[in-house]
Amino acid sequence: MHTDITLTVDGHSRALRVDTRTTLLDALREHLRTTAPKKGCDHGQCGSCTVLLAGRRVVSCLILAAAADGAEVTTAAGLAPEGREHPLQRAFVDHDGLQCGYCTPGQICSAAGVLEEAAAGWPSAATPPGEPAEGQAVPLTDAEIRERMSGNLCRCGAYAGIVAAVGEAARAAEAADPAATEAQSGGAR
Ligand code: FES
Ligand code: FES
Repeated sequence: MHTDITLTVDGHSRALRVDTRTTLLDALREHLRTTAPKKGCDHGQCGSCTVLLAGRRVVSCLILAAAADGAEVTTAAGLAPEGREHPLQRAFVDHDGLQCGYCTPGQICSAAGVLEEAAAGWPSAATPPGEPAEGQAVPLTDAEIRERMSGNLCRCGAYAGIVAAVGEAARAAEAADPAATEAQSGGAR
């Protein structure tokens, strides 16, 4: 059985016909030739297919394309405005947060989700009990970053660089716009 769907991928509206069993990952890669998200395990275990779906990070191999009909999908290739570099992309380069690069688009999308979630005050398993205070962001310590990025595996073992890169991007985001961080935290109440 097939169905017609529309996805907005990295700012471009795309119409396509898919088998109802097609995953979002296969729709992106095989139907739309959007190759930033990578297929590693195809079982939700490695994180290499991570994209932002309506602003939230998801593993696209576990989402049916038909269920994402009408949604906005952002891949690592579309995180920054065309021709520009996202601070996370620069930080990954500066801190050697990659080796072969296969996991990197998923790592960067996941990291973008981490920055938003921490700024909104969402605790993780690494957050001390009772924190953050209401309306406050969660500081992205190395332990927080490791926990929050634990769904993204790197066979090259570039984890030290990945943690450093996400930490730097978090500090840069806060320094650039501390008011926005506060506002996001307030919005999560
Ligand atoms: S390919 Fe989706 S989690 Fe591994
Ligand atoms: S850089 Fe090679 S798998 Fe992560």
